[in-house]
Amino acid sequence: MWPGALPLLVLLATLLHPSRCTQTQAKMNFREKEKQVLDNILGPGRYDARIRPSGENRTDGPAVVRVNIFVRSISKIDDVTMEYSVQLTFREQWLDERLQFDDFGGKLKYLTLTEASRVWMPDLFFSNEKEGHFHNIIMPNVYIRIFPNGSVLYSIRISLTLSCPMNLKLYPLDRQVCSLRMASYGWTTDDLVFLWKEGDPVQVVKNLHLPRFTLEKFLTDYCNSKTNTGEYSCLKVDLLFKREFSYYLIQIYIPCCMLVIVSWVSFWLDQSAVPARVSLGTNYHG
Ligand SMILES: *[C@@H]1O[C@H](CO)[C@@H](O)[C@H](O)[C@H]1NC(C)=O
Ligand SMILES: *[C@@H]1O[C@H](CO)[C@@H](O)[C@H](O)[C@H]1NC(C)=O
Repeated sequence: MWPGALPLLVLLATLLHPSRCTQTQAKMNFREKEKQVLDNILGPGRYDARIRPSGENRTDGPAVVRVNIFVRSISKIDDVTMEYSVQLTFREQWLDERLQFDDFGGKLKYLTLTEASRVWMPDLFFSNEKEGHFHNIIMPNVYIRIFPNGSVLYSIRISLTLSCPMNLKLYPLDRQVCSLRMASYGWTTDDLVFLWKEGDPVQVVKNLHLPRFTLEKFLTDYCNSKTNTGEYSCLKVDLLFKREFSYYLIQIYIPCCMLVIVSWVSFWLDQSAVPARVSLGTNYHG
């Protein structure tokens, strides 16, 4: 046998080894299983997305939806139109026991859907929203994960322009509180309750650059509202913005003071030096 033959044989043996074949087959079967599970839980006649999930611990109480958000950017804080723009990753998690499935010994960690209409969804809306849109490049920026225990995680990227009434009495040394309010549109607190997720429900991107403001802090709270038709669950985040005075100092105050100081030059000029006075005057107005 010639010397190069041994590695070649080893290579051939590994390529043709039967375990490789069975492995790929098992993987294919596994994808098949995923399809079967999906058909099982969401197939026709099995799941009705119009019916809300039962309450916590299978009680008759309201469905509980836990919310958390990640603020990706804040792009505009406008004190003329009194609004601000944010881009969020918005996440909701709830338990829908009808969607429980067998995880094949921990191999199937979760199922991913991209169509929100297939499962029941909380009807949350942003109550101080003026404008908003989803992101669809290159595919809709959204996913729904279904865990074996029936837990559903919904995550979506949204851009919002929200109203923020401001008090400008102390301008430009003011602080403004802008909030983000989320409430259920149609389900009262008997059917649906929103809660903040435990532990850091609001996260803000590390290097947040704001135009002329700094984000001092943010607070999460509840803002349930009672109307003629019932009580609705509501969540809010208050963002506390402090105006950056240094910007106004450099852009407005220092240039104005310098102009005034330059205007005092005319006091040192001789009363009869007409050409100098005239040129100084025209310089101000020019
Ligand atoms: C559900 O059960 C957990 C643990 O047993 C308990 O902490 C929680 O308060 C229960 N929730 C309700 C709504 O009864
Ligand atoms: C269900 O599983 C997910 C993922 O493992 C977990 O985050 C969630 O807390 C679980 N929910 C319950 C009610 O056990």
